[in-house]
Amino acid sequence: MFKTFKAMRKYYKPFKKYAIWGSIMTLLFAFLAQVDPYVTGLIIDKVLVGEESDFVIVGSIIIVAITLFRTVLRYGFFISFEKFSQKIVYDLRKDLYKKIQSLDFSFFDKTPTGNIMSNMTGDIEAIRHFFAWITHVSIFHGTVFIFAIIAMFLINPLLTSTLILIVPFITFFSLRLSRTVRPMFKNIRDQFSKLNRVVQENISGNRVVKAFSREPYEIEKFQKENEEFKKRNLDAAKVWEDNLPALDAIAVLFNVIVMLLGSIFIMKDQMTIGELVAFNRLLWMINNPLRMLGWLINGTQNFIASYDRVSELLGENSNIPVLEEPVTPTHFMGNIAFKNVSFHYQDLPVLEDISFEVKTGETVAILGSTGSGKSTLISLISRFYDVTEGVIEIDGRPIGDYDIPTLRNNISVAMQDIFLFSDTIEGNIAYGVPGANKEKIRLAAEIAGVNEFIHQFEENYNTVVGERGVGLSGGQKQRIALARAIIQDPSILILDDTTSAVDMETEYTILTELKKINANRTTFIIAHRISSVKDADLILVMDSGKIIERGTHLELVNKKGFYYDVYTQQMGEFNSIKEVVNG
Ligand SMILES: Nc1ncnc2c1ncn2[C@@H]1O[C@H](COP(=O)(O)OP(=O)(O)OP(=O)(O)O)[C@@H](O)[C@H]1O
Ligand SMILES: [Mg+2]
Repeated sequence: MFKTFKAMRKYYKPFKKYAIWGSIMTLLFAFLAQVDPYVTGLIIDKVLVGEESDFVIVGSIIIVAITLFRTVLRYGFFISFEKFSQKIVYDLRKDLYKKIQSLDFSFFDKTPTGNIMSNMTGDIEAIRHFFAWITHVSIFHGTVFIFAIIAMFLINPLLTSTLILIVPFITFFSLRLSRTVRPMFKNIRDQFSKLNRVVQENISGNRVVKAFSREPYEIEKFQKENEEFKKRNLDAAKVWEDNLPALDAIAVLFNVIVMLLGSIFIMKDQMTIGELVAFNRLLWMINNPLRMLGWLINGTQNFIASYDRVSELLGENSNIPVLEEPVTPTHFMGNIAFKNVSFHYQDLPVLEDISFEVKTGETVAILGSTGSGKSTLISLISRFYDVTEGVIEIDGRPIGDYDIPTLRNNISVAMQDIFLFSDTIEGNIAYGVPGANKEKIRLAAEIAGVNEFIHQFEENYNTVVGERGVGLSGGQKQRIALARAIIQDPSILILDDTTSAVDMETEYTILTELKKINANRTTFIIAHRISSVKDADLILVMDSGKIIERGTHLELVNKKGFYYDVYTQQMGEFNSIKEVVNG
């Protein structure tokens, strides 16, 4: 617990004034709780026994005033601790979000979205609950407990000392309980993540689920995790129930000691009956905090488990090392060289000894069977992953020398797996260039062929597309992604299978338009169609992570190898499109 507190210091320290004020008000609130029984006692003694009837009025006024004051105090400390907690989690959430933004592809490869979501929601809530609630409840009950002990001590020191002998048992009990429930709360939080993951995946994949009529299976999958979540919660609750008898035993022990010793003291005239009655009332003030102990321990352990998970995420670091003093040219020429580049995804070798060079303004096309490593190859240029061996140079410098934002601002990628935000079409196109004027957006849209279909939407460029671009066809999404890449006016443009879903005629128009604006730009085109790659300055043919053929279209056709085979297979299609285009 102290470890967690130490680790969280940076978050609560700036707001400790709220905790201090809150604590003062809580202490006062707990202290004033003693006044009511005390004054009531006085009224009974003075009015009933002493016959000072005036005291009824004075006593009542005191009780009402104190009660009102306590209400104000309660409001005060509730607000104080609420503010304390909200400010802490506000900063924590901000840091978490920043951390998530800073992490690279390999983190997202291994971390399910549902886990991150549960960090941002459930775990943060457990932390907030601790600072907003567990804090003042502990202070209040702790104070009441101590006050009660002091009051008892004033009445009868000997009897109270005997009772204090039980305190080590309570301590032992609390420690044991907290040790038992701690891993359980970690399990609960982990299971909550799992449950989140199942729900998140199900909702994202709802179309697949429906297409395969797998609803029953999905329900069963969810139920399994839901069941486990319930079980883990009940297990934790059970620990508490198992320990209740021990707490009851302590409470009974208190009573027995008080009754037994109290009677002896009374018989020996060392205590009055009135004192014994008061003692008994105070016992309740001791037992009540003990009853709360379980809740407080649970809440604290839940907090620790949640913070552990959050700090695990905060401790994640990007695998892409960042230089202290990187080079930050404003513009790249776009000369690229791969020198003996190999790459492994963890243990899986994907690229082997890749070498080639491209000059400014040239177009490189990459063709190859599925899974041959084309997308992986181009992801290395933007440093989404770092090479395992070899080096990639841009304008004669290893890409590791550049500042990452500079590097990525000069490279535009239209990725194979297209993601559109739930925003307008215009907003999606201008994503990388916030504040781009309409003219610029229209121009990019025109080159990418977006203008061809935009009129089918009533609101044209202001049409809001659904999550991930729902409401658009595959080819429409690709063209928006292409416009999003073009508008950045990058030195290096990478198109990963970007025209695969548009018809060949549209593809031809798009590639022709692109050629016009690409004179000073290095372009990578990954494609499966010969028609998309044949005009490139260099064509790389890949298979199983290696470049098996390279050259221009003519050279490769004459070589009569893999490329030639693909070419002859596709030729029929290719010729017919030529006829269409050339009229
Ligand atoms: N994030 C990843 N983690 C681990 N392995 C991966 C990852 N991405 C791809 N791979 C593996 O790397 C290999 C190359 O994948 P890549 O996506 O580069 O192929 P590709 O040539 O682009 O294929 P396609 O034509 O189907 O797009 C595949 O065997 C794939 O399973
Ligand atoms: Mg690919």
